[in-house]
Amino acid sequence: MRVSVIGTGYVGLVTGVGLAEQGHQVVCVDSDPEKIAKIQRGEVPFFERGLEGLLRSTLGTRLDATTDLRRAVLETELSLIAVGTPSREGGEIDLSSVEAVARQVGEVLRDKPAYHVVVVKSTVVPGTTEDVVLPLLEQAAAKRAGRDFGVGMNPEFLTEGEAVQDFFFPDRLVLGAIDERTHYTLDALYAGFPSVERVHTTPRTAEMIKYASNALLATLISFSNEVGNLCAALAAGGGRVDVAEVMRGLHLSKYLRTALPEGSAITAPLAAFLWPGCGFGGSCLPKDVQALIARGRQAGVAMPLLEAVIATIPRCGAFASPCSVSRSGPIRTICASRRPFRSSTTSSRRARS
Ligand SMILES: NC(=O)c1ccc[n+]([C@@H]2O[C@H](COP(=O)([O-])OP(=O)(O)OC[C@H]3O[C@@H](n4cnc5c(N)ncnc54)[C@H](O)[C@@H]3O)[C@@H](O)[C@H]2O)c1
Repeated sequence: MRVSVIGTGYVGLVTGVGLAEQGHQVVCVDSDPEKIAKIQRGEVPFFERGLEGLLRSTLGTRLDATTDLRRAVLETELSLIAVGTPSREGGEIDLSSVEAVARQVGEVLRDKPAYHVVVVKSTVVPGTTEDVVLPLLEQAAAKRAGRDFGVGMNPEFLTEGEAVQDFFFPDRLVLGAIDERTHYTLDALYAGFPSVERVHTTPRTAEMIKYASNALLATLISFSNEVGNLCAALAAGGGRVDVAEVMRGLHLSKYLRTALPEGSAITAPLAAFLWPGCGFGGSCLPKDVQALIARGRQAGVAMPLLEAVIATIPRCGAFASPCSVSRSGPIRTICASRRPFRSSTTSSRRARS
């Protein structure tokens, strides 16, 4: 399939290179000419293990990079929007880049007779694709969604530092679409992953799945830190409360660990988020939790649990010292596994997004 990926940050470039490696014909687009010049030279503008090699092996054959969005949309059948959605002051996401791209793509669709599919890959709050992006496309294109072009939402779950691995071995594919034809096109885009579980759903549900996933991880981290803070305070008061033992005891629960007949056991990967110590930071988890709270506020739904998850973050720093001075193996190991600073990426963003 011929695909344009608009926005060549972590999500856009990894996706573009990955899709090209899988045999699609990909054009990566960015408004930043320096980024595009680098990509055209075979250089990745940030460090992500394994990405530069793949970029070089696909560049010039199945991968192209340009600042010319018009050409990219005209030459392809599907466009993925992967631009940034940073936080505004009140926690809401700033949709200005997504909106600008929707208008630009719509203007090109006005002049493109062939059917085209537009898919939002950026993290956007529930309702954005259908209530913001779709009307902007229709208005700029003077065409009807569902008849003249398709609209979809395909959230990204990659972890910086493991992004290439995450692209080739995804845990799920969430495919939100306004109609069957768009679902069909998205299925064709991901034909290279025949055995990965897919959720075929509406754009709104796809958007919500992304936020619910990140909110759960943030909640587990804040929960662990709160338990850790209390353990540290009780230990400081003279009692012997070992937070590492508390957490190990928790992880042995049958809900987190399955004993296998031959004597070994499998621990749910989710348990990695159930260790106190390093808190959560970076751009994605706090940004996404705050955006979800703001969306709840807008919908008249209070989210006191997630408010508390965010309120707990500053106190995590206080707990970081018992963690870092701890002689306890498990805690140090898990702190490392959350990778406060990852060697496989230049990003200081710390948590799974
Ligand atoms: N980074 C992650 O780990 C991660 C994981 C999952 C989801 N996400 C989400 O994916 C989206 C993109 O994240 P990112 O980290 O790749 O962002 P990024 O900031 O690294 O990259 C965004 C790119 O979009 C480009 N851009 C902005 N406006 C443009 C325009 N009008 N036309 C063309 N290009 C434009 C920028 O120049 C930049 O290169 C965000 O919504 C983010 O929340 C990020």
